[in-house]
Parts: sequence; structure tokens; C-alpha cells
Amino acid sequence: MSDFNNIKKYVFGTPLKTGATVIDVPASEGTPDHFKYNPQLGTFTYNLKDKDMVFGLGETVRGINKRGWKYVSNNADEPHHEETKESLYASQNFLIVDDVTGCFGIFVDDPGKVEFDIGYTNLDKLVIRAEHNDYDFYVFNGESPLELVKAFRTLVGKSYVPPIWAFGYGQSRWGYKTAEDIREVATRYKELGIPLDMIYMDIDYMQDFKDFTINPERFPDFENFVKEMRAEGIHLIPIIDAGVKIEKGYDVYEEGVKNGFFCKKEDGTNLVAAVWPGKVHFPDFLNEKAAKWFGDKYKVLTDAGIEGFWNDMNEPAIFYTEDHLKEVFEGLKEFEGKEIDIFEFFNFKDLVSSIDNNPEDYRRFYHEFNGQRVRHDRVHNLYGFYMTKAAGEAFARNNPDKDILLFSRASYTGMHRYGGVWTGDNSAWWSHLLLNIKQMPSLSMTGFLYAGADVGGFNGNTTEDLMMRWVEFGIFTPLFRNHAALGTRNQELYRFERTEDFKNLVGLRYALIPYICVSFINAVVNDGMYMQPLSFVYRNDERTREVEDQLIVGDSIMIAPVHEQNANGRYVYLPEKMKLIRFRSYDDYDTEILKAGDHYIKAALNEVLVFILPGHELKLAKPARNVGELDVEHLKVISF
Ligand code: GLC
Repeated sequence: MSDFNNIKKYVFGTPLKTGATVIDVPASEGTPDHFKYNPQLGTFTYNLKDKDMVFGLGETVRGINKRGWKYVSNNADEPHHEETKESLYASQNFLIVDDVTGCFGIFVDDPGKVEFDIGYTNLDKLVIRAEHNDYDFYVFNGESPLELVKAFRTLVGKSYVPPIWAFGYGQSRWGYKTAEDIREVATRYKELGIPLDMIYMDIDYMQDFKDFTINPERFPDFENFVKEMRAEGIHLIPIIDAGVKIEKGYDVYEEGVKNGFFCKKEDGTNLVAAVWPGKVHFPDFLNEKAAKWFGDKYKVLTDAGIEGFWNDMNEPAIFYTEDHLKEVFEGLKEFEGKEIDIFEFFNFKDLVSSIDNNPEDYRRFYHEFNGQRVRHDRVHNLYGFYMTKAAGEAFARNNPDKDILLFSRASYTGMHRYGGVWTGDNSAWWSHLLLNIKQMPSLSMTGFLYAGADVGGFNGNTTEDLMMRWVEFGIFTPLFRNHAALGTRNQELYRFERTEDFKNLVGLRYALIPYICVSFINAVVNDGMYMQPLSFVYRNDERTREVEDQLIVGDSIMIAPVHEQNANGRYVYLPEKMKLIRFRSYDDYDTEILKAGDHYIKAALNEVLVFILPGHELKLAKPARNVGELDVEHLKVISF
């Protein structure tokens, strides 16, 4: 009998030790409660009850209630976050099924492909199927979704806590090339008095996109530049990509080859893929020695004063592999000079358009994992996790006295102990602001507390009103970063007309930092959630089960972000009497007590709606230029 009698483990086949869990739960006999297991098909089927809601899976498309779609855990470099997508960058195989009269949770610890058909094939069936048949299947029992979240986190460990300044505002853009570009960002923010704690360095700071290098022409005196920015209260946060450029004389490449630290193909040669640097090898982060070696490389930058990183392209993204490219050219010959009919034309087109992130390529290479040779597709979803783990463990070794900011694009359960996530290449769409709102509680559920989206949208051109509404939500997300793609419209807050409003809104974020940090730490310590769906709190209020665009943040406030263009307000459902604060800034707001029920609440473009729950209070600091300058001794209290 386990000490953790609310967690049951069922073992299928010979599972790999993924590193997702931190405690050993003895295996139970038989098959998982609640499910019908079909050993021939390898499926677990649960008959969804009318009122069952299904929560979880972390970063995916669609709603907080996951019913009505099929999700596939298969980390993907997916820049189109549309409703029809089954996989994004992350895989969190944790689900909660809840109909209020009862609930249970499950976690499938399998880093290969796992399919969650939640009423897609059959409206009333939840069917789970893993591509490989070796995994631990956990079932959690509890009285409420929050208890299940707690049981899950008891199993998988405490969430990562970033340095306090990482709760400030960050400006990023793919396209800042030189120290001068970055200086300009810092200066423009300072001139307008908009607080700022971080400026992100995208791939252009590197020499030819080589990890752990700095382009000496663009950054002639990098160490001093880092110091200069620190003196301005700004932390520089460089990106690190998974692929290592193949280039004679480049130390990371040479050492990796010499020590056999790169992922190899069946024939023992290193896989050649292409990403931003051109041709690359992939470090085998699953190999302990290779992970230690790569992790220690971050020291090049921490020694220069860097205190934060974002790990990217670590699904891993593959633009092409040398092998597949050859196959494509071969295949194209078949079409050359031939009269091709329309169906052949589509075959021809598919041949070329399926070059990047091709599923076959993920079956071409291997890892040395726990002393075993394992084909990549079997452990695919661990790659970004182990890259981030390598960095996190290296920081603990090499910088034990420092808190280092770390977050990643790809992830799997367990990575939440080492870093946070951003939700990847979203678009400057109103629907993606809404998606951000819906993803946040799902991420909280799975232990990814330090999380956020590219505020304003990454792909496509944003607009001033979308940016303002997104900032109004972003001020509540632990990771609050404005980031955009190369070639898109400039979207630093100083590029817009209503800079005073942006200053007030970002100022409000800084005012909220004491509340945000306390709520965040509570969620870490108590294995709880930073952002919750309303139905987790108001268990007996049926209406809350359909509310997907209002969230409980911490335990004292509810937020209701405006996420539609040209809206001057929105409908808000109040499960109980609450105190509305309509913020324009830290010291410009009005309040009103509202009774339970439906309300249309006005919110002009520069106004944020916050609702204090009865018996609670909101403590605000006076905004400052950066987190370090906040006066957290003297807080203003708004109570209800
Ligand atoms: C990827 C990242 C994005 C970054 C870009 C260039 O698309 O998701 O954030 O800006 O690569 O490095």
C-alpha cells in the first residue's frame, strides 16, 4: 500500500525513467480505475458523463474545458496555433475529469506520442492511446480538481521559482542586432517612464547563430555592455537554440564531435539537420555526460554577467535533414518532364512542403538514455525538457548563489521544476489573446506556473488596440514579455500613440507585483494554481462551468479581460458579490460593489477590470522603474 493513497500507478510494458516524477509509487495490480482497457488496441476508454468537464494538457489549442477535440502529445515547432491543430510545442499528459459529484485525474508518463481523444471520434467518450506500449499510467483521486492538482504535483515535484525581477516587464523582438539597437530600446522606455526589467536578445546577438558565441562587431565589449544595462536596471536575456552549428574550429561543435555528444543515426554517424545556423548536430541532452557538458557552456554567458536565458527550437525543430532532402530530390526526379495530373501535382507539392519537421526525420536518430540506446521518437517529448534540465542543473552547480531566469519553448512534465515556458509563435490576432487567457489555467494545473505568451502577438502585424488589451491581460501573467517576429510591424510600447496609457498599464503591473509574487509562491509551496478557472473555486455554481474568459488569479481577485476588438466593455458573470476596481492606473481607478449575476461592465480601451472577492484585499506597491526599485514596505490596500 502506498503512502500516497490518492495516487495509483499502473505499469504497462517496460516504461522508461522519464524524470517526470519525484516519488516512487508502488504499482497497483489490474487496469486503471474508471477506464476500460483494450489490450489489442492499447486504448483506455472512459464514458464521459453528461456533465463531465475535462481539464488539463497544459499548452494546447481550444478551451479550458478540453471536451470536443483530439489532442496529440507530440512536441511540434508549430507556428500556426489554429483550432485544427492537435499538437503545439509542449506535452503535459495530465487530465482532470470532473462533474462536481466526483472527479479524478490521470497522468500518462510516456514521452512518445500519446493521443487524447476527448469526445472527438465519439462525443461521449474519452479515449487515450499511446503509440508505444511502455508507460506508467497514474490515477489520482480526490474531492476536488484542486486536490487532484495537488496530488499530481506531489508526484511530479515543486514548480520552478524565477528571480524576482523576472516578474517585471520584458521587451523582445527578433531583429535587435546590435548593442545600439538594445540601448535604444532601454532609452526609449526610460524616456517615457515605462518600467522595464528585461530586454531579450534573439539569435542575432550570436556569431552566425552559434550557441554561446557573441558577435564581436555587434557587441564590441559585451561584458561592459551587460554591466551598463544592469546599471540601467535591465537584465539582458539571450536565447539559446538546440542545434549546434557544424563548423570546423567552433569549440562547441568540435568538443561535441570528439566526445560523441551529438545524436547519432543508426549507422553511428551524427545526424545532420538544418535550423537557423544552417547545418547542425543536435546535442544528446538525454545523455547525462552530454547534458553536463552542454549545461556548463552557459557559463560563457553567466561569466559575462548574464542571469537569464530562453531555450528555443528544442522540440527539436528541424527545417530539413540532409538525408530527407536527398530523398526529396530523388522523388522530384519522378515528376520531371512528366505530364502531371492534378493528383500527382498535389503529391509533388506535398513532397516539398513536408520537408520541415518531417515525422520520418524524428525516427532517424538515437539517444543514449540511462545507458540504453533509444530511438528519438520514443522519447521525443523529453528533448526540450532535458535541454532545460541540463541548463538548470548547471546553474545549480556553477552559480549556486544566483537565481537564474530560465524558460523554454518545448516542455514535458518534470521540466516545470527547472524552468517556465512561453507559448511560442502565436499571432497578432484577437483570438490568440483569448487563447492566451485559456491556456494560462491549464498551464498552472500542470505545474508550469512561470508562463506567458508573446504579448501583442509574434506573427503578423499587431494594432495599438490589440496591444493595449493584451497588455491588460499580460500584466497578470507571471511571464510578461512583448515579443514579435522579424519583419513584422514594430511593437515596442513606445512605437504607439497612447504611450501614457501603456505607461499606466505597465505601472499597474508593477503595483501588482507584491500580489503576483505572493500568489505565485503560494501556488509553488502549496502545489496549487496561480490562475484558476472559475469552476475550480465555485464548485456548486453551474454557470461558472461555462465561463472560459474570466480567471481567478491567486485567491483574492477575479479578472475579466476584454478580448474583442472595438469593445468598450464586456459581459461578466459574478458567482458572488464582488468589488469591481476599474483601473486606469495605480492611482486612478473607480470602485463599485456588484451583486452576484450577469453584468455588462464598461471598460474603455485603457481600463482594466479587477474584482476583489468578499473578505479579501489587494495590496499595491507604488510603481517604479523596475522591480528592484519597488517599495514593498508601504503598500496601498484595497479591501472588500
Ligand atoms: C522561433 C521562436 C521565436 C524566435 C525565433 C528566432 O520562431 O519561437 O520566439 O524569435 O525562433 O529565434
